[in-house]
Amino acid sequence: MAEFDYDVLVIGAGPGGYVAAIRAAQLGLKTACVEGRETLGGTCLNVGCIPSKALLHASELYEEAASGALEKFGVKMSGVKLDIDQMLAEKTKAVGELTGGIEYLFKKNKVDWLKGYAAFKDAHSVEVAGKNYSAKNVVIATGSSVTPLPGVEIDGKVIVDSTGALALPKVPKHMVVIGGGVIGLELGSVWRRLGAQVTVVEFLDQILPGMDGEIRKEAAKIFKKQGFDIKLGTKVTGATVKGGRATLTVEPAKGGEAETIEADCVLVAIGRKPNTDGLALDKAGLAVNARGQIDTGHDFATTVEGVWAIGDVIPGPMLAHKAEDEGIAVAENIAGLTGIVNHDVIPAVVYTYPEIASVGLTEEQAKEKGAIRVGKFPMMANSRAKTNRDTDGFVKVIADAETDRVLGVHIIASLAGTMIAQAAQAMEFGASSEDIAYTCHAHPTHNEAVKEAAMAVLGKPIHI
Ligand code: FAD
Ligand code: NAI
Repeated sequence: MAEFDYDVLVIGAGPGGYVAAIRAAQLGLKTACVEGRETLGGTCLNVGCIPSKALLHASELYEEAASGALEKFGVKMSGVKLDIDQMLAEKTKAVGELTGGIEYLFKKNKVDWLKGYAAFKDAHSVEVAGKNYSAKNVVIATGSSVTPLPGVEIDGKVIVDSTGALALPKVPKHMVVIGGGVIGLELGSVWRRLGAQVTVVEFLDQILPGMDGEIRKEAAKIFKKQGFDIKLGTKVTGATVKGGRATLTVEPAKGGEAETIEADCVLVAIGRKPNTDGLALDKAGLAVNARGQIDTGHDFATTVEGVWAIGDVIPGPMLAHKAEDEGIAVAENIAGLTGIVNHDVIPAVVYTYPEIASVGLTEEQAKEKGAIRVGKFPMMANSRAKTNRDTDGFVKVIADAETDRVLGVHIIASLAGTMIAQAAQAMEFGASSEDIAYTCHAHPTHNEAVKEAAMAVLGKPIHI
C-alpha cells in the first residue's frame, strides 16, 4: 500500500489551487483538490473577477446605449430599458460556464475533487467532511475574504460586501461605497452606470492606494467627471439601518466634526484578509504572520516540510493571475522542477472606464531607489483613441536613468488592461525604454501610446 493517499493535496480550488492541482496532475502526480464551495473556481470565478467583469461589461453597454453617447457616431437609440434580472442572469450564466469548465478540466486531468472544508490533522493529513486523507505534499490555497468594518455590519440587504453588490435585485438610488480601492471603484462604476448616485468614502487622502501618484490623481479627476462623489480623508465610524435605509456616521480621518450620510445601499470594500480560520494550522506546525498570512520562501514552501502555500493567503498582491502563476510554480517545485514567479513583474488592472493598469515600480518607489527618467504620452495624441473618441488618460514609462532599463509602466486609458501586457513582457525580458521605442507597433492602435511614452523617456516622441 502507498504511504500516502495522494502525492499532492491542494486545499482550495480558486485560481491558485485549481491551477496547482491541474499542473501537478499534468506532471504525473496523484492529485486531489479540496473545495467546500458548491462550484470550483474560488472567489475569482464565483464572486470576484468573472461576475464583476460580466456586470462591468453589461453596464458599460447599457450606459453607452442609454446616455446617447453613441449619437455622435450616428447611432440613434430610443426607448432603451434596463432589465436587471436579465443582466444578472447573463452574469450567472457566464459564471456557470466557467466554473463548470474547471470541473471538466479536473476530470480530464484526473484530479479528485474532495467536497468539503479541510482541516489539518498533521502536516501530511487533513480531515474533509468526516474523512481523513493523507498526502506527501499539501498546498494551502484557501484565498481571502472580506475585511469586516467594526460598527458597519454586513446584513446582505442594505449593507453588502462585494458578493452582495454583484447581485443587487434593483438599482439603488444612493449607494455609499466605503473604500476607494479596486472593488469600490469597479462595483461603484457598475451601479453608477445603471443609474445610482454613488458616493465613495475613502480613509486616505487619495483613492487607489499603492498605485502611481499621478495615476491616482488623474483617476479621481475622471471619476468625479463621471459623477462619482468622492470623499477623501474621511472615515466611517458607524452605521444604523432602519426601514431599508442606512445612516452612516462619517468624520474626517484626522479627527473633526462628524456628519451623517443616508443611503439605500452601502458597499463595504476596505480590503480582504487571508482565509486561515478552521484550517487548524497549528496541527501542521504552522503559524500565521502579523498580517494573518502564511509566509513561504520563493519556492512557496512553508517552514514545515511538505506543506506549501500560494495565492491570496500568502504575502503579495491579491490577484488571480499572481495566484495562478504561483499554482504552476508550486506544482513544478513539488515535482522536482524549478518553478519561479517574478514578483517584480505582476501587472494589475482596475477594470473601470477608462481602465487603469500598472506593472513594476511607481514613480515614487523608483525615485527612492535611484535616478530615473520618465516618459509620458497622453491618449489625446494617440490617433486611434482620438478616432474612437476615448482620449482620457496617458501612458507613463519609468526607466533607470543610467541603464535605461524599464522599471515601471502605468497606464490610464480605455484599453489599459490589454496594453499593459506588452509592458509586462518587455520588463520580463529586461527591456530598455529604447527597446520598446524601436519595436514596430501596429497603426492605428492604442498601444502606440506605449511606444511613444517609451520614446519620450529619451525626449523624442513624434506626436507631441
Ligand atoms: P480564492 O479564489 O479565494 O479561492 C480559495 C478557495 O478556497 C475558495 O473557493 C474557498 O471556498 C476555498 N477554501 C477556503 N478554505 C478552505 C478549506 N479549509 N477547505 C477547502 N476549501 C477552502 N483579481 C484579478 O486578478 N482580477 C480581477 O478582475 C479581480 N476581480 C475581483 C473582484 C472581486 C469582487 C473580488 C472579491 C476579487 C477580485 N480579484 C481579482 C481577486 C481574486 O479573486 C483573487 O486574488 C483570487 O481569487 C485569489 O485566488 P486564490 O486561489 O488564492 O483564492
Ligand atoms: P483595496 O485594498 O483595493 O482598497 C480598500 C480601500 O479602502 C483602500 O483605499 C483603503 O484606504 C480604504 N479603507 C480602509 N479602511 C477604510 C475605512 N475604515 N474607511 C474608508 N476607507 C477605508 O481593497 P478592496 O477594494 O476591498 O479589494 C480587495 C482586493 O481584491 C484588492 O487588494 C485587489 O487585489 C483584489 N481585487 C482585484 C481586482 C482587479 O484586479 N481588478 C478587482 C477587485 C478586487
